[in-house]
Amino acid sequence: MAEPTLWIGADWNPEQWPRDVWRTDVELMVRAGVNLATVGVFSWSSLEPRPDEWRIDWLVDVLDLLHEHGVRADLATPTASPPPWLARLWPETSAVTAEGVRLSPFSRNHFCPTSAVYRERCAAVVQALLDRCAGHPAVALWHVGNEFGQTCFCDSCAAAFRVWLRERYGDLDGLNRAWGTAVWSQGVGDWDDVLPPRAAPYLHNPAQLLDFRRFASDAQLELFRAQRDQIRSVDATTPVTTNFMGFFAGVDYRRWARELDLVSDDSYPDPSRADAVVDSAMSSDLMRSLGGDRGWMLMEQAASTVNFRPHNAAKSPARLRREVFQAVARGARGLCWFQWHQAAQGPERFHSALLPAAGTDTRHHRMVAALGTELAGLPDLGEVPRAEVALLFDWPSWWAGTQRDLPSDRLDPLAQLRRWYRVCWQRGVLTDVLGSGDALDGVRLLLAPSAVLLDDATVARLRAWVRDGGHLWFGPFASAVDETTRLRQGPFPSGFADLLGVRGEEWHPLPDDQLDPDADPSRSADPDRSALSLSKRRQSTVALVPTDLGAGLPRGRADIWAEWLEVDSADVWARFQGGPADGGPAVLTSAAGAGRVGLVSTVPDAALLDAVLGRALDLARVAVPPAVPDVERVVRGGLTFLINHGQEVRTVPVPGATTDLLSGTRYRDAVELHADEVRVLTKEEV
Ligand code: GLA
Repeated sequence: MAEPTLWIGADWNPEQWPRDVWRTDVELMVRAGVNLATVGVFSWSSLEPRPDEWRIDWLVDVLDLLHEHGVRADLATPTASPPPWLARLWPETSAVTAEGVRLSPFSRNHFCPTSAVYRERCAAVVQALLDRCAGHPAVALWHVGNEFGQTCFCDSCAAAFRVWLRERYGDLDGLNRAWGTAVWSQGVGDWDDVLPPRAAPYLHNPAQLLDFRRFASDAQLELFRAQRDQIRSVDATTPVTTNFMGFFAGVDYRRWARELDLVSDDSYPDPSRADAVVDSAMSSDLMRSLGGDRGWMLMEQAASTVNFRPHNAAKSPARLRREVFQAVARGARGLCWFQWHQAAQGPERFHSALLPAAGTDTRHHRMVAALGTELAGLPDLGEVPRAEVALLFDWPSWWAGTQRDLPSDRLDPLAQLRRWYRVCWQRGVLTDVLGSGDALDGVRLLLAPSAVLLDDATVARLRAWVRDGGHLWFGPFASAVDETTRLRQGPFPSGFADLLGVRGEEWHPLPDDQLDPDADPSRSADPDRSALSLSKRRQSTVALVPTDLGAGLPRGRADIWAEWLEVDSADVWARFQGGPADGGPAVLTSAAGAGRVGLVSTVPDAALLDAVLGRALDLARVAVPPAVPDVERVVRGGLTFLINHGQEVRTVPVPGATTDLLSGTRYRDAVELHADEVRVLTKEEV
């Protein structure tokens, strides 16, 4: 059966329901436009209630039932949550925290990724599944585990970490050099001395922390690969995926993405935050960039409330519709939900679903069923064009930028990325999210708001790219460390200072407003008091003033961070007024070869950042459509998606005659959108 224009679906957990519910569930799926059901994600104990006692028949019946109704299956391996017997018989299969606590079953995801027994038992249950289900006509996609991201600090992981380090560094000299173990007497004389970063009295070795992150990601990737290859050895044609979680720090999705046949993502923007739609757009752009030609699909989202925040606001139907069309506009090949039938038991019984506990005769179910039908009626969508602007984002740099020993913990790399992304989003400029190893063909402007860590090869490649005509703009604290977290020597931004025509000397986090010295938490032995005084601290800001070269930029404020820079030859657009870098340059740029480098050495307010990046877009000759506040505008395969995320009526200029596919309304030269409205416009009609 050919792939539909869009996969529309949901997780379905029939093992949580008596059999007489199954058929109704599937009939309702069909009525709601569902064509894909993710089954089996947490079904290990239902498939193997005791070791080697197999109960696969029910799952085959489920696949038969789906097939009978023309619904395809995204069949999951059930390995994310081992049954309690595994922990009882082999306690070493359960993960251990950095504090040495072994995790218990009766939740989920408690496994140790390097446990040999866990891996053996995974292979056994996956084989049992393959023996009975591979080749079943319902199966359209394999789904390995669920939301990988476990980290374990046990002895087995310590041993695997040593093997991983040996491969990376060859010998102990290499390890000692990379980890800088001469500091604080950490010299490693025997591989057995090496440990994961378990609970310790004070700051950890930063290189150990970073390598453990890399190792933990790779250790889980090995689990994924093992299952993927096991599946492929039996079924070489059905694509294999596992679900990502947007900007999730636990694993390096850039290393993972190349191992997947299809990138898929789970996205749960908080409905109580109006601007969470910008975050979900950024996640979609990340997934599109990770997926490349293979595309990506939204594997999970909530129809309304979730259950995992302390206070879970419900999502309005209009908001859900906006979020769904946003993902479609940004290239999604499928839109799925967690989950089809709201759980009656377990910790997710208060999590929304497409079929709510209140039943089918509900506003909620009618709405999602209508949405499913609307999506199923969309024509062939085509691909999203490659963006001319890209954000640079690497997991190791994110990890390095969130360690505890940095000049400030307020310069959060992801928050920086969001700030810069938001400017592009508001201006309707499509943005890819690329890693330092990705090809930059077609990219005119590369934004690096949080590139704390750059390896030597990347520095060389980016320099060459700029000389060949690329425009590269850095945010604060750029190129501070190399891939081992070693502080780069010489003026910063290291590797680019000469191209910029500046010499960075000192990072200057802005001081807090003056406090009573007795309230300084570092002087207090009482943790409650420290927390209290910290929360009362107020971050000061300093003024940013445009120079003659920056004439036309607004005056603004700088937050969190400043840098002391000596200028040799750069064009300075704005200077600090007040604060530790008073009078010094804050925003500057230089032509370099056929390209350009720029630096925003602080965290400017939104208006100033918008103006600065607006100029950077102009200089890079990036096409920028006329901006309309609150309206998201994305072109996919010749269709123009317009989404009004605000509460006001907006008019968007769209030259020529167009028709909205959703309502059939025809427009000439301008399209009006009320609050929450979505339009999918056909190509201009001549
Ligand atoms: C994750 C999981 C699902 C479910 C949802 C709830 O995405 O993959 O099993 O727990 O969260 O929001």
